Amino acid sequence: ALDYAAPSEALAFVRRLEPASCRLKVGKELFVRSGPALIEKLVHDGFDVFLDLKFHDIPNTVGKACAAAADLGVWMLNVHAQGGRKMMLAARDAIAASRTQPMLIAVTVLTSMDEQELAETGVAGTIEQSVLRLAALAQQAGMDGVVCSPLEAATLRQTLGTEFCLVTPGIRPLGGEAGDQKRFTTPAQALHNGADYLVIGRPITAAQDPMQALYDINAGIATASW
Ligand code: C5P
Repeated sequence: ALDYAAPSEALAFVRRLEPASCRLKVGKELFVRSGPALIEKLVHDGFDVFLDLKFHDIPNTVGKACAAAADLGVWMLNVHAQGGRKMMLAARDAIAASRTQPMLIAVTVLTSMDEQELAETGVAGTIEQSVLRLAALAQQAGMDGVVCSPLEAATLRQTLGTEFCLVTPGIRPLGGEAGDQKRFTTPAQALHNGADYLVIGRPITAAQDPMQALYDINAGIATASW
């Protein structure tokens, strides 16, 4: 996750990376500062880019935003499942009509939320129930997968099948600082639980040596046994 405020900082980091060592996720902070030009540069340099803008609006607006994102050549983009079936169908239609056909993913419940925070928004039941309900809705609406916590990945994998893509933030190597993440686990455990793609931000970007942190995580995954 390229969660840098300044495009120059993000690019300095990217210059040290090989596209084979990781994909890149551009979120709201960097996108609002640097705009589509940065995305086009990363794509041009050979990186698979996940544009993490979590669209959540009326169906017409979200469909058009998804079409615009697809035009940038991104590999993956996302919407909020809480935007509902019609919104997700509009996103699906827009991507189906696009030239590039990026993966379309729906966010279930943010991994920074705990039960109490979710209840405060008026949603009844446990987080796991909400995640399952939203993920099933996302699958019915033709999403390629969902963003969920690695702690929910095993249940979702079992319920939604092997083809449905599970993208999991909330990744912390053993002993790593949680920060604002509440529902997190280690890279190896997330993969063991059935995650397809791990979203990793601060454990790499805030490390003293980010390249070493990335290398260590990739090596840990390659040698994990379960
Ligand atoms: O630094 P950290 O590893 O916590 O970063 C996680 C990244 O994943 C952030 O860029 C955040 O915006 C994103 N994300 C998340 N929870 C979601 C969806 C995306 O943490 N449900």
